[in-house]
Amino acid sequence: MVSFKELGLVNTREMFKKAITGGYAIPAFNFNNMEQMQAIIKACAETKSPVILQVSSGARKYANQTLLRYMAQGAVEYAKELGWEHPQIALHLDHGNSFELCKSCVDYGFSSVMIDGSALPYEENIELTKKVVEYAHQYDVTVEAELGVLAGVEDEVQAEESHYTKPEEVIDFATRTGCDSLAISIGTSHGAYKFTPEQCTVDPETGRLVPPPLAFDILDAIMEKLPGFPIVLHGSSSVPQEYVDIINANGGKMPNAVGIPEDQLRKAAKSAVCKINIDSDSRLAFTAAVRKVLAEKPGEFDPRKYCGPARDEMERLYKHKIIEVLGSDGKAE
Ligand code: G3H
Ligand code: 13P
Ligand code: ZN
Repeated sequence: MVSFKELGLVNTREMFKKAITGGYAIPAFNFNNMEQMQAIIKACAETKSPVILQVSSGARKYANQTLLRYMAQGAVEYAKELGWEHPQIALHLDHGNSFELCKSCVDYGFSSVMIDGSALPYEENIELTKKVVEYAHQYDVTVEAELGVLAGVEDEVQAEESHYTKPEEVIDFATRTGCDSLAISIGTSHGAYKFTPEQCTVDPETGRLVPPPLAFDILDAIMEKLPGFPIVLHGSSSVPQEYVDIINANGGKMPNAVGIPEDQLRKAAKSAVCKINIDSDSRLAFTAAVRKVLAEKPGEFDPRKYCGPARDEMERLYKHKIIEVLGSDGKAE
């Protein structure tokens, strides 16, 4: 048993409390490799932003859970080396799908876990979530639950259709499970294709797809039922069109890739939404940079020569999110 406290990590309780009263959101960035981790920590150390490092099931398979946990431990030391005196870094299991997995993360030094029972019948979701909460809270590990199902398909995380969260269920769910935060469904989805062209309108000036707005009426109703309760938004990548253009101009093929407009996320960040999950945008930044280098220098074969620019691009992206979208800069001095 390793406590996250021994590793210099923090849970999400204080982070969320401050974010709600301060009207900003904590970035929850997924990581799978060293370059992503370096970019996240550099961006957060420079902006003094609290951060949640997320490990998905795909990441565990790709990079190994043990290695990722040691990387998170290393991240705390790296942050200090960069001059961030009191780093506020949480290590979080993204979309945990069983009690056993959540338990193994708690036992192994994660400071926060998500139990995603959103695809289960309501009572089963409650039962599973409650079991995880009872275990995790013994070790002061915070628990995120999910109610409502996100649309879209992303590797292991899939749902056939979108079921928005029902505001009339949230009080019962939060009370009976004791969860610390709640991921809701209000129109976001995982991946780089969040809406079909049919669901969008077209901007007459740019010819770009304009997605429909998120269901803020549902968010408002949830906040009314659970005042001050931490809300989480998954599937919150914006799919920057400049990256999609670079990818498509350099041998890629990503037609009609579209995400959540930044103004929608800015609005959400000012509300009780205090954790915003971003993964796909970092994948796009990385891929765009790699494709560009390899297209311009076909003879290049040193991975550092294309992973380096990819890392720089991700760092720019993370800083942009922190400063221009979530408003979490300067909140972890
Ligand atoms: O929630 C989904 C995340 O983007 C992680 O996806 O399992 O492919 O790493 P992944
Ligand atoms: P995106 O695919 O929009 O980046 O969402 C990531 C996410 O929700 C991870 O849990
Ligand atoms: Zn997610």
